[in-house]
Amino acid sequence: MINEKLSKIWHGGDYNPEQWNSTEIWDEDIRMFKLAGIDVATLNVFSWVLSQPDENTFNFEWLDEKIDRLYENGIYTCLATSTAAHPAWMAKKYPDVRRVDFYGRKRKFGGRHNSCPNSPTYRKHAERIAGKLAERYKDHPAVLIWHVSNEYGGYCYCNQCEQAFHKWLNDKYKSLDNLNKAWNTAFWGHTFYEWDEIVLPNILSEENEGDVSNFQGISLDYRRFMSDSLLECYKLEYQAIRKQNNNTPITTNLMGTYPMLDYFKWAKEMDVVSWDNYPAIDTPASYTAMTHDLMRGLKSGQPFMVMEQTPSQQNWQPYNSLKRPGVMRLWSYQAIGRGADTILYFQLRRSIGACEKYHGAVIEHVGNEHTRVFKEVAQLGGELDQLGDKLLDARVNAKVAIVFDWENRWAVDLTSGPSVALDYVAEVHKYYDALYKQNIQVDMIGIEEDLGQYDLVIAPVLYMVKEGYAKNVESFVENGGTFMTTFFSGIVNENDIVTLGGYPGELRNVLGIWSEEIDALHPDEKNEIVMKETWGNLSGSYTCNLLFDLIHSEGAEVIAEYGSDFYQGMPVVTANQFGKGKAWYVASSPDSEFLTGLLSSICEEAGIESLLDVPEGVETTERIKDGHSYLFVLNHNSEEVTININEHKYYDLLLNKDIAGKVTLDGKGVLILTKVK
Ligand code: GLA
Ligand code: ZN
Repeated sequence: MINEKLSKIWHGGDYNPEQWNSTEIWDEDIRMFKLAGIDVATLNVFSWVLSQPDENTFNFEWLDEKIDRLYENGIYTCLATSTAAHPAWMAKKYPDVRRVDFYGRKRKFGGRHNSCPNSPTYRKHAERIAGKLAERYKDHPAVLIWHVSNEYGGYCYCNQCEQAFHKWLNDKYKSLDNLNKAWNTAFWGHTFYEWDEIVLPNILSEENEGDVSNFQGISLDYRRFMSDSLLECYKLEYQAIRKQNNNTPITTNLMGTYPMLDYFKWAKEMDVVSWDNYPAIDTPASYTAMTHDLMRGLKSGQPFMVMEQTPSQQNWQPYNSLKRPGVMRLWSYQAIGRGADTILYFQLRRSIGACEKYHGAVIEHVGNEHTRVFKEVAQLGGELDQLGDKLLDARVNAKVAIVFDWENRWAVDLTSGPSVALDYVAEVHKYYDALYKQNIQVDMIGIEEDLGQYDLVIAPVLYMVKEGYAKNVESFVENGGTFMTTFFSGIVNENDIVTLGGYPGELRNVLGIWSEEIDALHPDEKNEIVMKETWGNLSGSYTCNLLFDLIHSEGAEVIAEYGSDFYQGMPVVTANQFGKGKAWYVASSPDSEFLTGLLSSICEEAGIESLLDVPEGVETTERIKDGHSYLFVLNHNSEEVTININEHKYYDLLLNKDIAGKVTLDGKGVLILTKVK
């Protein structure tokens, strides 16, 4: 449980009462929070300058008052450390806190999330205020969790970062000789003889817009270094809190598939993962599902928090569509069904000025409870009360895993060639989507996760194979596992240096193939996947595009061949028996019909069952606790559907009654079913 003080699914969100100087409004807020079943308020996210108006003055009385008033009314606090927006006085007095951007421009004061992570001033002051807050609130009964900073992200390109980079590189490589080798600096005459000859990679040196780098080695390391630098800031605050208090959990809010930080590394430093879920109206439900599964995967299946979601609309998307009636509730249960133990909003009351005044909130500008949005929030609040602690800590049990690796993603993004259209996350999502549509539960895992717990492991575009990983895959397959990877895999090591001796490098043995060349065509140009014979649910031919590996079998069974071009007749899909298991290679990017057929057949063969047979547009997901299964059925369609919940009798946790046989589910409707014994 995240915190036993509140043993139900938390319901609340970011609350900025400091933006109003009115007891009347604060009282109204509390009245309405109670109506909506709000039990947690996230305070102090951006109020650093309020608590520290100058370098030597601290004033937390405003915060005492807010925390106490809420607590007296039964509302707990998620306490932020406020370090995501540095004070103006700090930016003026200590220019080193201000970042330099990708174009080499020194920032002035303004915005947020923009402190240089290697600024000694920022680090010192952030640690200091976190410590002061911890000292003051360590024993406060209202505090459920610490929320360090906010949405860490972005990179800095200043001189102090460059110097810190030299030190980071020195620690990593020990000598310039090693570094020169690792980055292959003999290319374009880049050999370094002094550490300070190395300049950080931005538009003034090695990189162009859109992640294109001349030197993947340095660019990869800069991403690792920046992710580590920001993590270091988080850790300083974490430790400052821990010094005062050793049991309240600590988190920081992540952003799903955000590209710039290696979240698997970050999650190790977090007591519980939390993240901000902002799908657009046209984000595929399976993409959001995948992201929840990824957030759950960061800590090997431990339940996570939805730290923010909008009750209605965003302000920062190009077209800020309202969540249609029922959608907020539906998406909340999607999160819960995939492992979330909290539903928190940004924000509880709408700002009146600046850029977020058109961002959705529980309390809108009209200021009362008679709004569609408020009513939907209040309904959900009532349901979460009713669910109590039933689902808390429930786990998800998946037999299929998809590998997701940020460093591999960086390397794929940074490559020059073979195709600008190659998008790592999109390829991962394709595979996820095919399983999602068949209601097969998936874990999204990092490369450190033990593969032995799964029957099927898919690693799309495993371009970078880190030391030891190929051996893990081999022993997984040897012992009976099914492994699948795709085109453009096994090409480089962790420094983006090609593994010689033929693609897919270290994976060649387990896959039983050799990839001789890689063709890239405009995404509109297709080739065909022609089945050699019927295999499982697959027969005839399908299409593929993007990249086309020209492969030869070295023992693998050829399942399908290319249908056209000069490589017509060469293998495009292969399966290699290796020990007790099989390793699959999909040499191009297939259409979804092919993938659905392939994955359903493989799952059938491996005895991996789908959760429930449901109509299109209906999602299922299951959490398990103390031997009880909780099956979520989520109707993303606007129209009602009929679900046949087979021969079992179920109890629905939301309707509070037994149901069986054929059930009608409203458009955007939700069922949470548990079997009646
Ligand atoms: C992010 C931030 C919040 C707010 C929301 C708006 O998630 O953490 O402070 O700006 O976006 O959607
Ligand atoms: Zn910097």
